[in-house]
Amino acid sequence: MSDSTAPTDDVWTVQRILQWTTDFLRQKDVESPRLEAELLLAHARDCQRIRLYTDFETPLSDKERARMRDFVTRRAGREPLAYITGQKEFYGRDFSVGRGVLVPRPETETLIDVCLEQIPADRPTRVCEVGFGSGCIAVTLAKQRPVLSVLATDISVEALSYATENVSNHDVDRQVTLFQGDSFSPLPAGQSQRFDGIVSNPPYIREDELASLSPEVAVHEPHIALVSGEDGLHLVSRLITEALDWLTEDGWIILEVDPAQCDPVTRLFIEAGFDKTSIHKDLSGNDRVVFAARK
Ligand SMILES: C[S@@+](CC[C@H](N)C(=O)[O-])C[C@H]1O[C@@H](n2cnc3c(N)ncnc32)[C@H](O)[C@@H]1O
Repeated sequence: MSDSTAPTDDVWTVQRILQWTTDFLRQKDVESPRLEAELLLAHARDCQRIRLYTDFETPLSDKERARMRDFVTRRAGREPLAYITGQKEFYGRDFSVGRGVLVPRPETETLIDVCLEQIPADRPTRVCEVGFGSGCIAVTLAKQRPVLSVLATDISVEALSYATENVSNHDVDRQVTLFQGDSFSPLPAGQSQRFDGIVSNPPYIREDELASLSPEVAVHEPHIALVSGEDGLHLVSRLITEALDWLTEDGWIILEVDPAQCDPVTRLFIEAGFDKTSIHKDLSGNDRVVFAARK
């Protein structure tokens, strides 16, 4: 490899490169260095991870070594693994991701579960998503509820490109329509266009909090997907007040936020005129999702 500690004379077998990469990533403070070394090498060799174990003594080709060198350098620079492999699994499906779009998070699967409780399996329903990113929420809801239609917006041009690809890869083009622009503004307006539900995993990190996050997030992920004003609630507050113009009378809204924001966000909903609210925990046991309905 390119590091001065890397041996240069011996043959680079799968086993040897795994060991070297594991040690190197550990020195760079990468979490789970062995697992990540395996995932990077499987990607460099274009094979399943399990195959590495049957190929332990196999030397890498020049092309595989060059790919691995590039991937390890990027990961040692703390670029997210998902940007290097170009894929992230979410709710059991693979999504294309890369620089410029947020990597889907496991806690967002809780947001999906809370939405699915509200969306009937057999009655056509209209939902709006603000901030689609990779498209993981809109696509997952559409796959889980085949008669659902989702109109989704995102301010980011990069997000539009990834989400378009994911909508097409998962074959939900007829259910999911993407619009690029701020909040609800790119959507067709009018009474007949109102939604049964609104869902969003908006940016919710405080400006002063960003520097304390891991380099994978703070340096490599798009700030517009993460940060929202001094209190982190700039877009959330807007969504809560703007939502009333977009929901049917018994419509609902479901937001993912930081655990510490769940109570303040509930208060914002009540102040805005929502009657019914509830807070839901993610798989780690943290308050994560706020539900609100008008009636
Ligand atoms: C936390 S990410 C969520 C992405 C994706 N829905 C997910 O859960 O992985 C927030 C997204 O909101 C978008 N965004 C930020 N400000 C926005 C705004 N004013 N209007 C629409 N989208 C916005 C960002 O570009 C980003 O894609």
